[in-house]
Amino acid sequence: MKTIGVFDSGIGGLSVANAIKEAFPEYRVEHREDTKNVPYGTKTADQIYGFVKPILDDLAKTCDVIVIACNTVTTTLIDRLRKEIAVPIIGIEPMVKPASQLTASKIIAVCATPTTLGSPRYDYLKRQYAKNIMVIEPDCSDWSELIEQNEISEQKILEDIEPALKAGADVIVLGCTHYHWIEKEIDEIVGNKATVLQPEQAIITRLKVLL
Ligand code: DGL
Repeated sequence: MKTIGVFDSGIGGLSVANAIKEAFPEYRVEHREDTKNVPYGTKTADQIYGFVKPILDDLAKTCDVIVIACNTVTTTLIDRLRKEIAVPIIGIEPMVKPASQLTASKIIAVCATPTTLGSPRYDYLKRQYAKNIMVIEPDCSDWSELIEQNEISEQKILEDIEPALKAGADVIVLGCTHYHWIEKEIDEIVGNKATVLQPEQAIITRLKVLL
């Protein structure tokens, strides 16, 4: 039986692992979190590498493919990890390209961790796919920690998202897997003003090709 490894700093990975389990009931899913060091989104690439490498080395012993269900790890380390780990790795990064293709207002909002937003890979995605698009980056710096502790409120989400909607954003990108847990709340706030994008279906499609 094939095994799919799923890794994230914290509970964001669980949301992705659940979607994968549902799509691939015939495979085993081995899911890991780094409860000791979460959140990653305020840490440096070197710090994150030190946390992630031993976990992925371990997963690589038993998995046929590894999904890094973490935008922060993908945007800072995926190239290095792919070179060092012999198992195929699928990463997750903010859906800037699909959002740029979808927006009618030419304004999108990307919700992600500070480390993702500061990464060269994210900068590349914006330069490559969102040249003529205004990209708003709401301050979500405390979201993953609040979600980990089950302490994020609808009021807090509203306060952080509303300015982007008022500015005309018609696509909201969930660029951190932790935020998948509050997708329903975000959908309610956004209503018909914007489309909310997250990558679980895209990962499943990619996995189908790889497996
Ligand atoms: N869930 C992760 C992501 O997709 C990181 C959250 C965190 O550890 O700060 O970016």
